[in-house]
Amino acid sequence: MKYLIKDPLYRGYDYSMFLHNGFKLIKTQYKTFPDGEIYIRFLDSLDPSGDYYILLRGYPNQNSSILFGEFLVSTLIEKGASNINIIMPYFPYARQDKEFMPGEIVSARILEKIFYNLGANRIFTIDVHNSNAFLGITKSKFINLSSLPLWERYLRMLCDTYKKNLFLIAPDKGRIKFVETLAKRISVEFTYFIKKRDLNVGNIILHEPAEPEIYERAIKMTKCIVIIDDIIATGGTLASLASKIRNEGFKGQIIVGGTHGLFLNDAVDRLYYSGVNQIVTTDTVENPFISEILKTAPIFLSYIL
Ligand code: R5P
Repeated sequence: MKYLIKDPLYRGYDYSMFLHNGFKLIKTQYKTFPDGEIYIRFLDSLDPSGDYYILLRGYPNQNSSILFGEFLVSTLIEKGASNINIIMPYFPYARQDKEFMPGEIVSARILEKIFYNLGANRIFTIDVHNSNAFLGITKSKFINLSSLPLWERYLRMLCDTYKKNLFLIAPDKGRIKFVETLAKRISVEFTYFIKKRDLNVGNIILHEPAEPEIYERAIKMTKCIVIIDDIIATGGTLASLASKIRNEGFKGQIIVGGTHGLFLNDAVDRLYYSGVNQIVTTDTVENPFISEILKTAPIFLSYIL
């Protein structure tokens, strides 16, 4: 039997498909004590022979979510369970994927290790910032799935709306493969930008088209430009690109998409001020821009079942 245990504070994530596919939802009681410490109680009895899937939010309050996950894994082990899986659709701490400056802690790897050391068998996530950061530690146990099939469906819908007069942009090198694959699948053009950040303060110090001729053609000829990133955090990356496109005189639609929509601080205003017309994300992080087409449960289920 497959059991789903959901982080009670993970809102906006549509997990109904797990239940439609035979997963039994384990009820938990969750509260915080006056001093902020968390309390969890299983309200259903636990079957040691079951396969457990713990659905955890990666944002907001990622630290308490991680602790919640640790408490659950550890307790399930104590109760005799031996197949325990973490599903964290947005995997936090993943952007610190290397030692950018000497002495920095590489948090991505640590979080993964914590779950394994406690006894989790597999960690599932989707579009993790840099999957290479996780290779070499536990390899096949860290299962990074791709939201690409969902974006393909979403873009096919846009192709119908804009009669294929669509152009895709990858906002930085890290996204080239993803966006290029999408462009090929739906047969539209694509290009990418080069982005450099100041390592100390994190702001963007350079953001330029890598293929100026293709980019200029897109500005002149296209009705709709779609820019897809993995994470929309402060909105700085996508706003920087959108304002460049507008400054070049582009009058068409600019749609920005991200797998994980964190929308920190004034990110939404920033995006609209920069000339973006539409924002769209998957459901990995609760936000107002989740598209029905981009719900991610089917991606996890097609791997698990
Ligand atoms: C960075 O390389 C990532 O792929 C995203 O571009 C970045 O995390 C987005 O962050 P922000 O919205 O703050 O620019």
